Amino acid sequence: MPPANEAQKKVVVTSALPYANGDIHLGHLLEVVQTDIFVRFRRLKGQQVLYVCADDTHGTPIELNALRQGITPEKLIERAYKNHVQDYAGFNISFDIFYTTNSQENRQYAELVYKSLCDNNLVEQREISQYYCENDKRFLPDRFVVGTCPKCGAPNQYGDVCEECGAAYEPSDLKNPQCFICGNEPVMKTSKHFYVQLGKKEEFLKQYISSPGVLQEDMRNFVKTWIDEGLREWCISRDGPYFGFKIPDTVNKYFYVWLDAPIGYLSSTDKWCKDNNRSVEEFWGKDSNSEIVHFIGKDIVYFHALFWPVMLESAGFSLPSSIRVHGFLNIEGEKMSKSRGTFILAREFLKKMTHPQASEFLRFYYGAKLSPTTADIDLNQDELISRVNTTLANNIGNLHHRTIVFCERYFDSTIPDVSWDNQIADAVEDAAKKINDAYESCDFKVVIETIHALGSLGNKYYQDSKPWELIKTDKEAAGSVMVTCSNLIKALFVFLKPVMPELSKKIETLFGLSLKWDDYHFSLRNCKLAATEKLVKPLESKDLEKLFSGATINRSKEEVNEEGLIDIDSFFSVDLRVAKIISAQKVKKSNKLLCLQVEMGDQKRQIVAGIAQSYSPDDLPGKLVVAVSNLKPAKIFGLQSQGMLLAAKDKDGSLVLVGPHKDVSSGAKVS
Ligand code: MSP
Ligand code: ZN
Repeated sequence: MPPANEAQKKVVVTSALPYANGDIHLGHLLEVVQTDIFVRFRRLKGQQVLYVCADDTHGTPIELNALRQGITPEKLIERAYKNHVQDYAGFNISFDIFYTTNSQENRQYAELVYKSLCDNNLVEQREISQYYCENDKRFLPDRFVVGTCPKCGAPNQYGDVCEECGAAYEPSDLKNPQCFICGNEPVMKTSKHFYVQLGKKEEFLKQYISSPGVLQEDMRNFVKTWIDEGLREWCISRDGPYFGFKIPDTVNKYFYVWLDAPIGYLSSTDKWCKDNNRSVEEFWGKDSNSEIVHFIGKDIVYFHALFWPVMLESAGFSLPSSIRVHGFLNIEGEKMSKSRGTFILAREFLKKMTHPQASEFLRFYYGAKLSPTTADIDLNQDELISRVNTTLANNIGNLHHRTIVFCERYFDSTIPDVSWDNQIADAVEDAAKKINDAYESCDFKVVIETIHALGSLGNKYYQDSKPWELIKTDKEAAGSVMVTCSNLIKALFVFLKPVMPELSKKIETLFGLSLKWDDYHFSLRNCKLAATEKLVKPLESKDLEKLFSGATINRSKEEVNEEGLIDIDSFFSVDLRVAKIISAQKVKKSNKLLCLQVEMGDQKRQIVAGIAQSYSPDDLPGKLVVAVSNLKPAKIFGLQSQGMLLAAKDKDGSLVLVGPHKDVSSGAKVS
């Protein structure tokens, strides 16, 4: 069959919409780099690919975060947007549009999809009981209720999961529930909610996920078990106040963020179409014959493989042709972690890596590691250095350098006008097929391996041909080696261009070409070379030092060695201060807690301490004690506590506060 006319094909490709709640980190980048490589490959082949993304701006965490920072959610998402756009630009991510879900278009499509779900009898309404704060006059979503974990007893846990033991539960399961905003105990109140009846779409979903190419096989099996276990209804409403879109014809009900988030793919496409005099139907219309490809992480498969197709089908849009799921990025073999200093932000990477090509090296590294599986991927300093140097500097860079230098020296910076080696040309043809298929199936690891093998073949050919000897006896034969190597270099950079667009530019300048996929065929001879520099400067460990030094220092802080000993850094991370107790009061409804007002130098603080059974409030004012002053503030029984007092537990269980033996000014550092 002749290939479909590539230029006619309409393709929409998306990366998952990052939450406006946080910064772009190296994990997000793994996803956008994967998507961008795919997009650039398709464009290289002449397809019209629309790469669409946006910030995901709604929901409780964003509202909460804004509340904490004392700004409006609008302000918060505006700041995030600017940062996100800048961060992605630093890694050459070629979005056609990066929009926002807090847009007019998104509201319109959310309403349209919702209406279609109602019209298709897929939405049921039901009353449920939920926590309500009489003081703040609002229903409290999961994250607005804090209390004691019903499983492990850890205090100060949110209403959905315990950060200590990982247990998941309902807000009503929490012990001592409190309103996050004001600390009062909430009451149960009924509220009406909207539920999408996914079960009614079981047959449709089964059929959809088994269509060829929609999901990788392991993911398909995974999703199939979800369907087989029975599809639960999906609650798409939240009570106001909620940062999101109001549900039409309701009082104070809003769309749950995960309803309008994927609709962002559609509404952002629409925005691009409006700006470019095109029609969204070309891409999302049911009969458009377009291709829709989503790239997502393995944590959000449920939303994309089940909820999203139901929404699209209901509203009469085209379904995703494929949902490509990737694994998670680990750093040095472990999950990215803020406390270990391995939670690396895109911005930090750009700022702290001292090598000028660092951001493309990261693209290359991700490419070399990415395969169509959902296995996690590890970023490792030594491996980053060795991969970059082995393939780029020593292999391809070397072939480039020796070829160009030779042409400069003996052929007046011109690729001679003689024929090339057909065996090498054939090897390139074979590699092209393999690389094409590997790009298509997102097996970028194989792409890089094949490129590396081709580079090695080129170097071996150069070495075996001995042009430095040939030039003395047979200039044409030496010229043929140069023509062959130059064409091989051109092919290598056609293949590498989706991964390393900037580096490929250097080769485009060298040959005076703008490389398209078909340019991998041997075609250069008798062509003048522009002046060039070295392609890559090797990556050295000192280039990574600044970025990763935080990681190792933090790690040594956390790690306790085999004998249970800590290092001095761990001790110094605790800031101990002398505090003077000003006043003390019993905490209502608690027989263990006292609420203390203390003075530390010129700071006044409130500390809630579990010493009520050992001290009466009247004994305490004037006492000097020792407090941990850099403890994260916590809410205890609705009261803010900004520190912790040191106390010794006696054999009988009574507590004795620790204090200095001589008078000393409050705020003095203890170490
Ligand atoms: N806002 C949702 C997606 C809505 S799509 C309609 C979301 N946002 S996110 O910011 O948490 O994640 C965005 C994407 O980055 C997701 O596909 C997620 O899987 C991916 N990653 C987040 N952390 C990651 C790693 N550590 N490693 C690889 N990908 C990671 O989910
Ligand atoms: Zn409250």
